[in-house]
Amino acid sequence: MTFRLAVLASGSGSNLQAILDSCASGRLEAEVVLVVVNRRSAFAANRAEAVGVPAIYRPMGPFRNEFPDDPRRAREAYDAALAAEIAELQPDLIVHAGWMHVFTAAFLDRFPNRVINLHPALPGVFPGAHAIDDAWVAHETEGLDHTGVMVHLVPDEGVDNGPVLASQRVDIAPDDSRESLEAKVHAVEHELFLDAIADYLRGQ
Ligand code: GAR
Repeated sequence: MTFRLAVLASGSGSNLQAILDSCASGRLEAEVVLVVVNRRSAFAANRAEAVGVPAIYRPMGPFRNEFPDDPRRAREAYDAALAAEIAELQPDLIVHAGWMHVFTAAFLDRFPNRVINLHPALPGVFPGAHAIDDAWVAHETEGLDHTGVMVHLVPDEGVDNGPVLASQRVDIAPDDSRESLEAKVHAVEHELFLDAIADYLRGQ
């Protein structure tokens, strides 16, 4: 059985690339049926298009304009519209690969236990969009000697929080720089994420 993945990304998409490569090589018995980006500059869309995978740009802006005085309602309207669009493709799994938007129940309730997120820190540590920077600052100011990577289910609006599917420690060596740490974290991500997705799919 070939599983159907919808991948959501906001940035460079190096993790999307790892997924696309793994689908092509057979490491993942899956195909990416849709890539969604919410930033026009997201290179992830180019990566999808380069291999013939449909990529759509869905920003929040029009929903903010529709509900200028009610940001919560704007989010829920965006989430419901995107969920409906994705649901049409009947994905087995929805993968957040650097997706910088926190879904409400208007999205998540459409896909119970079928949304997973990658985060460049260990469970419970450094939630948010700047986890590698946060770890680097903690290293410089407090001598933090490791950070990590995790993959977790997304059951609710908790930011980078949910039942953990996989995690791995990444050591910060004395001769690391901010850049070398980021490279180490990404290298671990590109393996751990694929293993976690493969494990998840095996359990389906
Ligand atoms: C990855 O490091 C991912 O863990 C992180 O965004 C990066 C995306 O990189 N996600 C978060 O910080 C979620 N809070 P990529 O676009 O090269 O895959």
